[in-house]
Amino acid sequence: MAITKVASLSDLAEAVPYKAEIDGVPVCLVRFGDAVKAVHDTCSHQEWSLSDGGMVYGNEVECSLHGSSFDLDTGQPSSLPATRPIPTFAVQIDGDAVLLDVEAPTNDAPFPDH
Ligand code: FES
Repeated sequence: MAITKVASLSDLAEAVPYKAEIDGVPVCLVRFGDAVKAVHDTCSHQEWSLSDGGMVYGNEVECSLHGSSFDLDTGQPSSLPATRPIPTFAVQIDGDAVLLDVEAPTNDAPFPDH
């Protein structure tokens, strides 16, 4: 799959997780001004949706189920109980379009089963 539009920048609130789905792959988008960061939406601990009640602190998104936080650039967890990273994605902005290629993660974290 090539790079494709996954959301509109104007739909994203500042530093609030936004769930997009691309070909069945859930992605958590976080807007910082005119830039957007993207990670796989599934927590590596017990597969909870990070955008479902997750909070953003600095450059990390915190899972609302048990509180693990993940770096939005590297996907690495910074707190237990999660110990495994989550996939990260490069984002491009074209006007109001938020674009990414969900098949081209920027780290080597494994994709969850679902
Ligand atoms: S499911 Fe995310 S920390 Fe447990």
